[in-house]
Amino acid sequence: ITLYVPRDTTALSLGADRVAQRLERAAAARSVEIRLVRNGSRGLFFVEPLVEVETAAGRLAYGPVTPGDVDALVEAGLFEGRSDHPLALGPTEAMPYLARQQRLTFARIGITDPTSLDDYTALRGFEGLQKALALDGQAVVDEITASGLRGRGGAAFPTGIKWQTVHDQPPGQKYIVCNADEGDSGTFADRLVMECDPFMLIEGMTIAGLAVGATQGYIYLRSEYPLAHAILDEAIERAVAAGYLGHNMLGSGRDFHLEVRLGAGAYICGEETSLLESLEGRRGLVRAKPPLPAIEGLFGRPTVVNNVLSLAAVPFILDRGGSAYADYGMGRSRGTVALQLAGNVKYGGLVELAFGTTLRELMEGFGGGTRSGRPLRAVQVGGPLGAYLPESQWDNPIDYEGFAAFGGVVGHGGVVMFDDSVDMGDQARFAMEFCAVESCGKCTPCRIGAVRGVEVIDRIRTGEAADQNLALLSDLCDTMVDGSLCAMGGMAPFPVQSVMQHFADDLTPRQAAT
Ligand code: NAI
Ligand code: SF4
Repeated sequence: ITLYVPRDTTALSLGADRVAQRLERAAAARSVEIRLVRNGSRGLFFVEPLVEVETAAGRLAYGPVTPGDVDALVEAGLFEGRSDHPLALGPTEAMPYLARQQRLTFARIGITDPTSLDDYTALRGFEGLQKALALDGQAVVDEITASGLRGRGGAAFPTGIKWQTVHDQPPGQKYIVCNADEGDSGTFADRLVMECDPFMLIEGMTIAGLAVGATQGYIYLRSEYPLAHAILDEAIERAVAAGYLGHNMLGSGRDFHLEVRLGAGAYICGEETSLLESLEGRRGLVRAKPPLPAIEGLFGRPTVVNNVLSLAAVPFILDRGGSAYADYGMGRSRGTVALQLAGNVKYGGLVELAFGTTLRELMEGFGGGTRSGRPLRAVQVGGPLGAYLPESQWDNPIDYEGFAAFGGVVGHGGVVMFDDSVDMGDQARFAMEFCAVESCGKCTPCRIGAVRGVEVIDRIRTGEAADQNLALLSDLCDTMVDGSLCAMGGMAPFPVQSVMQHFADDLTPRQAAT
């Protein structure tokens, strides 16, 4: 009998290791021979740890399973694939949360053992690389351009144009840098890719190297992801040993080398130029652009800097063709978006869908509303620097241009929900406080503006000349948006402005508000 118990950080934090041990013990006690596969997570966190049993009719799911549930589950026929236990969820693929998704990037997630090359290649792994090896660099870039893929880290810059810029630089040392400094609140999609399907990222980076003529790649990983680090290192080692990575890949005469480098906990090192500074061994200070990293990046050389999700989309595009990816989506937002449901949500997890779905469908249809059961009041999309969206905006389709039109940010796809007990004045203050703490300090509007922002909001909330201070706050936000060097100071006002616009009743003196 084959059983699956995930081993990603979420499942582990919910006791997956102990569940696995209990299953082994229960099997031994009954003299049942089991093969226990430690797969990745399907991204349905509300049913983790999710135990699956292989049957002739496919995998059956049980969850959330605590170590204490194991004996009762086994008694109820878990090993025989019986489904009359309250934790039985039926065939995994038929679970509506999963069945209603359009998983292109996350197609293998939770199905495979993350570091098994056999599992990866059995599900079309390295097909994209084989195709790329048969093409010249320009043809690979063209495929990415045709797919319409845009930067999934948040800025949505067309990936094909970025790669073209690096491709067109004169030959010489070029680099591929993967931004794996996933720092936005409520986000975990990069982590899921790295912990659950690391070969996909390795393959995507290798294809990027072939496209632009780079032979060295770095994954800049946040140090808060130790498991992703261990899994990536193991996957890189196996890919090299099997000839998919490193010197003379698959006998092609082409090289691509890959290393993981760890960050040190600074949010700003997710900004591409401070990331490059950090990779070069310096403090993470933002560099002015131009020059663009595509022209003068790591060690002054042309560099592709892409987010994990952008690079993870690449194997599919090369394997199935750019147009297959472009078939999904709406307007100029092609393909799928990895939305991450978090905060006060009943069914949190990863939802991959073509662009065009609505926030309401996501939060109610998938998320099932709030965990507290209280009415939903606000949602912050796109990380701690994204706007808070009121109910009037929940029916707009999710796409980059549509969101930008009303001041929203799709960003990296983090969706953090709040019920009606939230104090939006506190949330506005948090944005400024976050910026004050995380600012790299290079430019004045952000370094000083964020500190002043906290002070002004505090004055408003204590009732000190509230009208004047509100006007001052509004001015300060404009100055930060217009005058900051990077998105940190340039976007920190977004949540504040959205609170002033949509939740103004909360930006009043505290006593009056209560
Ligand atoms: P940006 O708009 O300055 O640049 C976007 C990308 O396009 C960069 O890589 C830039 O180098 C590249 N680029 C621009 N013009 C180019 C050209 N002509 N040729 C080649 N490449 C070109 O945006 P930035 O400052 O890099 O990112 C801001 C975004 O980051 C925000 O929208 C926010 O959503 C997101 N963000 C993401 C976080 C995360 O954890 N994933 C955290 C914080 C912010
Ligand atoms: Fe540094 Fe903030 Fe200026 Fe960005 S906006 S360069 S984080 S001080």
